[in-house]
Amino acid sequence: MEYDITQPGDLSLSPGEARNPGRRHRDVLITESSANDPGLTAESYEFLGDEDVPFSRYTSQAFYDLEIEHLWSRTWQWACREDHIPEAGDYSVYDVGPYSALVIRGEDLKIRAFVNSCPHRGMQFADAGSSGAGKQFIRCPFHGMSWDLQGGLREIPCRWDFPHVEDEDFGLTELPCDTWAGFVFVNFDLNAAPLADQLDCLPEHFKNWGMENRYVAIHTSKVLPGNWKMCMEAFLEAFHVLATHRGNRKQGGAGWANAQYDIFGKYVTRFIHGPTGQDGQSEDEIFAQMGSMFGDMFGNEAEDLRPGMTAREQLSETLRAKEGAALGVDLSSAPASIMLDSIEYHLFPNACFFPGIRIPLVYRFRPLGLDRCLHEILIMKPAPETGETPPPAPVVHLDMETSYTTVDGFFLGEVLDEDTENFHRQWAGMNAAFKAGQTLGNYQEVRIRRFHKTLLEYLPT
Ligand code: FES
Ligand SMILES: [Fe+2]
Repeated sequence: MEYDITQPGDLSLSPGEARNPGRRHRDVLITESSANDPGLTAESYEFLGDEDVPFSRYTSQAFYDLEIEHLWSRTWQWACREDHIPEAGDYSVYDVGPYSALVIRGEDLKIRAFVNSCPHRGMQFADAGSSGAGKQFIRCPFHGMSWDLQGGLREIPCRWDFPHVEDEDFGLTELPCDTWAGFVFVNFDLNAAPLADQLDCLPEHFKNWGMENRYVAIHTSKVLPGNWKMCMEAFLEAFHVLATHRGNRKQGGAGWANAQYDIFGKYVTRFIHGPTGQDGQSEDEIFAQMGSMFGDMFGNEAEDLRPGMTAREQLSETLRAKEGAALGVDLSSAPASIMLDSIEYHLFPNACFFPGIRIPLVYRFRPLGLDRCLHEILIMKPAPETGETPPPAPVVHLDMETSYTTVDGFFLGEVLDEDTENFHRQWAGMNAAFKAGQTLGNYQEVRIRRFHKTLLEYLPT
């Protein structure tokens, strides 16, 4: 049974009031085990206006330059995972636009971030995107000046030639650095407000979802053909599923326009959607449909729906047992929605976190000039409760033309290919447009509008 996209609904409602006719994700969520989780049941939609969003925000070099100067220089961005740098002297370099941070763990095991630029003549201590282990000090490769892991000057070769330098004035510039849920965040603004301000409700919502106990099972990095906002925004709505992911729609996956969209303040937004069935379908039918969707993953094709069970609860139960055993974790108290749904939180400006078990993704988007961006995807699995946590997977770099299906174990490869194959066309179309801007849906695309409102707050008017 396919969602009927031709249903007009009620166009006489006030702007932002309309929702898809028929069953909505939330209708189901509040009747099941998910209803006990305050994060999952939170609901916060706001109508934020319906004026067009200018294409020039994507295609104008001047606008891009303003973002570099006023956005990327002043927002918290996650740089790496804590377990990328587990020991003293382990480091990871985070770059965005011209900014570069050397994130390094000190002998006291504290993680610090320093501007990745030598106070002598500006050499970078380590290359963009690089990482390494076991440094006893930070040594510049050019003339060999060095600093301890806390950024204090250690040595200037030919010290006699620098009588004008005071040791205490020649330390490395330390950047604001903090952590949440195992992610290390940096901010290139020396006077940045605390990370907690930008995280807003994330720590509260995620407190039962164990993000801090996950490890990077797969990590991809791919250059995408389009402005970073255009590419990122394709992942902030599920409206496109109806047309872009047609296979998924036919299977009754996420393609029913039943997603819930939430605005939790300036910095955090969310969608939540997943298989729910539709009005008029029996639970047996829904179970059969979901079984065909998940069958390969969980091997539950042979099961029948037990009396008194809903399709979602029984499938969750099967998944908790099978996936819990495979991962070595106790998932027995995980709500159905965490087991089954696509739950995506966007953290301004450039990151998405999915707390689900079936779709456990993290994204990060960074600009590479006006018309290219770097999209990283992490698949983050719960770490086993006993025994060793696997180390973070190395980054798989994909060419623009290379399919995600070539990545071992990346079960969302086809879906990601469908998403990203749109981008060269959308980028060309944005540049070719005679119309001044894009026209967003009031509900399904409200996260994009919220993102733009916050973005504009960072830029000079
Ligand atoms: S540029 Fe770093 S020591 Fe000279
Ligand atoms: Fe998609």
